[in-house]
Amino acid sequence: MKSRHELVEKNVTWLALLTVVAISFGGLVEIVPLFFQQQTNEPVEGLRPYTALEMEGRDIYIREGCHVCHSQMIRPFRAETERYGHYSVAGESVWEHPFLWGSKRTGPDLARVGGRYSDEWHRVHLLDPRAVVPESNMPAFPWLETNTLDGQDSANKLRLFRDRFGVPYTDADIDGAEAAVKGKTEMDAVIAYLQSLGHALK
Ligand code: HEC
Repeated sequence: MKSRHELVEKNVTWLALLTVVAISFGGLVEIVPLFFQQQTNEPVEGLRPYTALEMEGRDIYIREGCHVCHSQMIRPFRAETERYGHYSVAGESVWEHPFLWGSKRTGPDLARVGGRYSDEWHRVHLLDPRAVVPESNMPAFPWLETNTLDGQDSANKLRLFRDRFGVPYTDADIDGAEAAVKGKTEMDAVIAYLQSLGHALK
């Protein structure tokens, strides 16, 4: 008579099925508690939602594919923290939808780039990266300077983040969104966004 162990080892269906069960159990044990841990689902102290202009900048950042070359996730290793600052923690990303953590770094991580350079540095860099970093292979984004924003969707974006994702925007934030954005250039928005990155934990 075959032992049960032999049955599982010699029957590929049972083997595959039970392997999946074993792995999912291991995964669940690791993942499920994170949903209930304050440390991973509560905002870190000092975190504030993006302003309307920063939110537009973030959308442009996604549109231009900046996240394809830049991660926003500092890993807890010395080589990373010496270069970029404090490693990223979950509480900084609770209001991020979608996350822009990424894993591919053609350029440096940007999780804490806010405040590292002046607005003017970013402007020159985005218009012509090689003007400030001669060996750079980052593309130039000159149209950001000439495209202006009308702010028509800005209020709706903030409202969506509040109603769907629980980001604490006030009615005043939402009512003022269009005026805060209207007439600004895409460059202004992207720079505002970059300067806000990592503000909560330096
Ligand atoms: C093709 C890949 C690529 C894309 C796309 C790209 N970058 Fe870069 N980026 C780089 C590289 C490489 C560097 C490092 C050289 C330099 O500073 O120019 C860099 C550097 C930077 C820096 C300076 C970071 C630091 O700590 O010195 C910022 C800020 C930046 N990029 C923002 C952006 C933004 C905003 C966008 C989208 C509008 C973007 N990048 C798109 C490759 C890219």
